[in-house]
Parts: sequence; structure tokens; C-alpha cells
Amino acid sequence: MTGITTSGTTTIRGAVLETIGAARPFAGSAPLRVQDLTLAAPGPGEVRIRIEAAGVCHSDLSVVDGNRVRPVPMLLGHEAAGIVEELGEGVDDLQPGQRVVMVFLPRCGECAECATDGRLPCAAGSASNNAGELLGGGRRLSRGTTADGEPVHHHLGVSGFATGAVVDRRSVVPVASDVPPAIAAVLGCAVLTGGGAVLNAARPGPHDDIVVVGLGGVGMAALMVARAVTSGRVTGVDQEPGKLSLARELGADAALTPEQAVENGLSATFVIEAAGHPVAFETAVGLTGPGGTTVTVGLPAPDAVSRISPLGLTAQARSIVGSYLGSAVPSRDIPRFVDLWRAGKLPLERLVTRHIGLEEINEAMDELAAGRAVRQVIDFGS
Ligand SMILES: NC(=O)c1ccc[n+]([C@@H]2O[C@H](COP(=O)([O-])OP(=O)(O)OC[C@H]3O[C@@H](n4cnc5c(N)ncnc54)[C@H](O)[C@@H]3O)[C@@H](O)[C@H]2O)c1
Ligand SMILES: [Zn+2]
Ligand SMILES: [Zn+2]
Repeated sequence: MTGITTSGTTTIRGAVLETIGAARPFAGSAPLRVQDLTLAAPGPGEVRIRIEAAGVCHSDLSVVDGNRVRPVPMLLGHEAAGIVEELGEGVDDLQPGQRVVMVFLPRCGECAECATDGRLPCAAGSASNNAGELLGGGRRLSRGTTADGEPVHHHLGVSGFATGAVVDRRSVVPVASDVPPAIAAVLGCAVLTGGGAVLNAARPGPHDDIVVVGLGGVGMAALMVARAVTSGRVTGVDQEPGKLSLARELGADAALTPEQAVENGLSATFVIEAAGHPVAFETAVGLTGPGGTTVTVGLPAPDAVSRISPLGLTAQARSIVGSYLGSAVPSRDIPRFVDLWRAGKLPLERLVTRHIGLEEINEAMDELAAGRAVRQVIDFGS
């Protein structure tokens, strides 16, 4: 479906979010409309990608339901992978035909935040993401099949719910061709975020106990990485029975509802919160043992507030750490996760619980909102 025109632009099909806060079910209100769009040719430092697979993350749903306020119209999707098709001026470290993972926060490599080894999000990347633009400034997307259509915003520098994308070079990390497209896609958000929260923010020792609260794509990836790196007890917590059985199949020593976790006196040195709900955050803090650390990854509504006891933190020397993008340096960390997957220690195939077509995107948002999906992946074909 991707055709290059004589003017250097490309026509693609993509799912554009037209309105924020549409009524559920989204299958009926259809806030995302699949349509033809035009991609400008990649500018200096940019690349054009043919997208092969894109995962549906709760952070996409949060734009649809208004919890993360973004400008519309916006071509959604921030967890994707594909093949490099065209290089903009000055990009000399990628080859056409190479598979890349797309990453939802480009690092400029020059700001003070970029010097924190992944701990802080890049200031320039955050600003361009908030504006719905690419890191180099402006938009390369417009409606229709001519370049003079209404401009459309980029989502987190990726806009992966489409057959093609133009992105900044710093929004992609190359991977070897043995990494299948769906696996490459989930590496970009679920695995980098959940796995990075474990490796970079928690930093457990080889025998530490780890609890993960919230077992969607991000939390389930955190649980897999936890299982791969500790011989201590790994426990998953979620209220959905299907998520608990998958966690057990993936090697969790226990999988409990939040109520069971409290009744059983569950406690661990490291607790990862990946639910995005203030009650889940309270649960996670409550399950963190003396001297332990709660790592919070979820992105609840901006006005969400939690109640926690300051005394419990002081008296037990506990810490709370926030982690965006897995506190990761993507070019360093994605190869680490690929190595663990190749070694058979990260069964990332199990994260993908449903393969869908682009036209099913509104239904996919309903599945995610209902808590039924771990990761749904849109297949575009290789
Ligand atoms: N920090 C980052 O860089 C980053 C990146 C990606 C996603 N996120 C955020 O991480 C969160 C998880 O994303 P996801 O795509 O895995 O979402 P998801 O909807 O697939 O999974 C969330 C899970 O949390 C469970 N849950 C909800 N409330 C709970 C509670 N009170 N106790 C226990 N479990 C509870 C749900 O049943 C579900 O299984 C979202 O808030 C998302 O926006 C953050
Ligand atoms: Zn995401
Ligand atoms: Zn930066």
C-alpha cells in the first residue's frame, strides 16, 4: 500500500485519531479513522520506514480517552518496527532493507537530560513529542494523497499505526533480521519500558524478590525480565484471572489479585507498578519491603492522586522511583533484550496475545480498555 510519487512524497494508509474522549465502545464511535495520508520525503537526519508490525499500548488508549492530552488530528501508534526504505541527507549508519525498532522518545544526545544515562527523558525529544512533531521540528504527515492536505500530528515521533512513516534517525534502533517484526515492535515500548524499569531503575541483585503490579504488555515484559535476572521470588499482581495464569506460565512463583497479595502479606525488595492507576500505585508501595524500592512506570490521569504513609517510607528506609521509557538508553538496551530473547530467557512471543489488521484498531482499543489483551499487534505483512 506504500507508493512513492514523482515529488518524493509517499502515500500510506494510517489510523488517525480525529476526536478525543469519544464514547465507548470505540468500535461504535470510531475515534480512529483509517485513511490515505501523504508522507513528505525524509529531511536531513530522517529516515522513511515501511512498517511491518505495530503494538497497541495503553499509552495509545490514553490519548484516545483523553488521559494523555495530545493535539489532533494525530496518527497514533508508538510501538512499531519496520524496514528502512529511504535515507535522508546525512544518515550514513543505516542501510535500506535493514529492520529497525522504533522508539517513542528520541534522544538528542546533547541536552543535560541526555547526559543522565537514561534516567531523565531528553528535553528536546519530550518537547517535540508534546508538540506532535519530529525531533527536527515540524510535521511530515498530511491528509489525502496530495502534499497540500491538512497537516496531521505525529505520535511520539513514531506514528506507527500506518503502512509507512518518516521519523528522526534517533527514533530508531537497528535489529538483526532474525528478530521477527512483532517481537521487534514490542521491544520498542513494552519491553524497553517494563524490562528497563527492572534493569535500569530497580537494579535487583541476582537473588532479590520482585513483584510486578499490573500485568499488561509493560508489566508482563517486566515480569519476564525479572524472571530472567533473579533466582528470588517473582510475583505478578493483577485483578484479571487470564493475566495471572499467563504470569504463572511464564515462570512467576505466584500470581495474585491485589487483595490476595495484601492478605498473604506479600512483600518484596523491588516492586514495579505498571498499571497506571493510583490504587495500583498504593498497592505497589504497600508491597515494598523495608529498604526496598517501588518503581512506578504507569501513566495515570494527570489529576490522579494516591495516599501513602510518609512514616512508612521514613521508618523503613523505602524509596519510590519514577521510570519513563525504562530509564533506558535504547541503542544500548534493545540489544540486551534481543540477546536475552535469543538465549531463550525472554519468551517475547507470549506477550503478543492477538494479531489484528489496521482496520480493527477501534475494536483493539475496546479490548485493551476491557483488560482482555496483553499485547495486540497490527500486522502489515513483510
Ligand atoms: N513510563 C513509560 O515510559 C510508559 C511506557 C508505556 C506505557 N506506560 C504506561 O504503563 C501502564 C501500563 O501499560 P500497558 O500497555 O501494559 O497497559 P495495560 O492496560 O495493557 O495493562 C495494565 C494492567 O494493569 C492492571 N490493573 C489495573 N488496575 C490495577 C490495580 N489496581 N491493581 C493491579 N492491576 C491493575 C490491568 O488489569 C491490566 O492488566 C499504562 O499506564 C501506560 O500508559 C508507561
Ligand atoms: Zn507504550
Ligand atoms: Zn536530549
